[in-house]
Amino acid sequence: MAPRYASTQLKAVFNNNTPQSLVRTRIPIRHASAVAVPTSSDPSHLDNDISKEAFLPNPDPPSDSSTARLTSSHTPYMVATYVRPPPVMAKGLGSYLWDIENRRYLDFTAGIAVNALGHCDAEMSKLIAQQSKTLIHTSNLYHNPWTGALSSLLVKNTVASGAMREASKVFVCNSGSEANEAAIKFCRKVGRVRTPNGQQHEIVSFHNSFHGRTMGSLSATPNPKYQTPFSPMVPGFRYGTFNDVAAVHDLVTPNTCSVIVEPIQGEGGVNVATAEFAQALRDRCTEVGAVLVYDEIQCGLSRTGSLWAHAALPESAHPDILTTAKALGNGFPIGATIVSEEVARCVVTGDHGTTFGGNPLACRLAHYISSRLSERTLQDGVRAKEKIFRAGIEKLKQRWPEKIQEIRGRGLILGVQLSQDPTPIVTAARERGLLIITCGTNTLRLVPPLVISDGEIEEGLGIIEEAMEVVFDKTGDQEVKGTKGQQEMAPDER
Ligand SMILES: Cc1ncc(COP(=O)(O)O)c(C=O)c1O
Repeated sequence: MAPRYASTQLKAVFNNNTPQSLVRTRIPIRHASAVAVPTSSDPSHLDNDISKEAFLPNPDPPSDSSTARLTSSHTPYMVATYVRPPPVMAKGLGSYLWDIENRRYLDFTAGIAVNALGHCDAEMSKLIAQQSKTLIHTSNLYHNPWTGALSSLLVKNTVASGAMREASKVFVCNSGSEANEAAIKFCRKVGRVRTPNGQQHEIVSFHNSFHGRTMGSLSATPNPKYQTPFSPMVPGFRYGTFNDVAAVHDLVTPNTCSVIVEPIQGEGGVNVATAEFAQALRDRCTEVGAVLVYDEIQCGLSRTGSLWAHAALPESAHPDILTTAKALGNGFPIGATIVSEEVARCVVTGDHGTTFGGNPLACRLAHYISSRLSERTLQDGVRAKEKIFRAGIEKLKQRWPEKIQEIRGRGLILGVQLSQDPTPIVTAARERGLLIITCGTNTLRLVPPLVISDGEIEEGLGIIEEAMEVVFDKTGDQEVKGTKGQQEMAPDER
């Protein structure tokens, strides 16, 4: 495979909004020697740096680079909630990102399945400018033209798409966790209305799920590593095994007010719910009077090639509540909880609320973004692009059959199950100009922008092959170190 070094020659296209601190530290045209110059008096690391520079189009900025100086001046002031790789991302356009030293990266992460329309979509930027000069926020104590327009569009497009036939009303908030938090509260309220003594309050969720980090959504996310430090969790949560049909009957009982499940688990490893499992959950929920919630925060909004992932399930397995966020704002914070009429009837004024949620700026953007994501041509494109990805990964599987075990997912949420730690591949890919992330246990996750071109997919697959060559066949000069922290949740370590 021919290396692609051309990307490092590109000039940065920073605009006038670049923070002054970046302008000062930016190297206008990047060249290898600039990065290898040491600031310390000990030159012993130079040989390594130079040989790495010669072979890699995008070597990670070393510890004495302008990038490292910038991050080390910032990190003392930042709560250490994430581990990040060295580059500092400064600009995005379409399927590419640029760092402050002008390295270009093809982005197969899309901000964790967020930038479905790519980075800095031109119409979105125009709407931000327009709406920010018109009205940004009034609070939910007043009507505005856009919260209702977005709610109506989401309901109509959902029903028209053949998904959630009972979709009726929407609560708009600011994030995925908040959308699930609202769903959890609505379900508890439905349980309370149906069983006023409060007995029907239990919420069922599944191992390897990820529903968020607020106390309610974390209580639905049964990973001891993330729950234990913050225990006790909210009482009344029970956990089952994803896709275990036989266990559903005893798991969901007359005390259950809700079952929350991802039709495709994203963080947990791109695990697809079977139709039998979803149907069993739906049937048991109906039997005991519980609310079925589908969390499509990661897999929804056309990522699978249809507006909602659960459209692949029979109509008889549709949910009572659907939660969404991520791609809804293409990077602008927004989330939404779509509910059936029956659920909506149980939620009354004062039961729930938000200061920022549903503000006119976020809703105007989401109105445009969800319209674009509902287009048939975009969805057809997602399915066509899935084929290119699958064909490419299948070739890699043939080359390394004992290393690549399985390809899971649908559309442009794909998981490549490896037999070993994938994090060195993440590093090797980044240093060759491609961003990828992981999920589950030893799974590479591919969630690129939905507007990615066929050529960009081929380019990225080529980089993955090179990265695998270096890691699996140990063709490089140096051992590639793993990039940790490239997924929201570490594997469930039960
Ligand atoms: C399926 C799912 N639900 C909920 C969340 C939480 O969303 P947020 O990070 O916006 O709070 C995520 C985030 O990764 C997710 O993938």
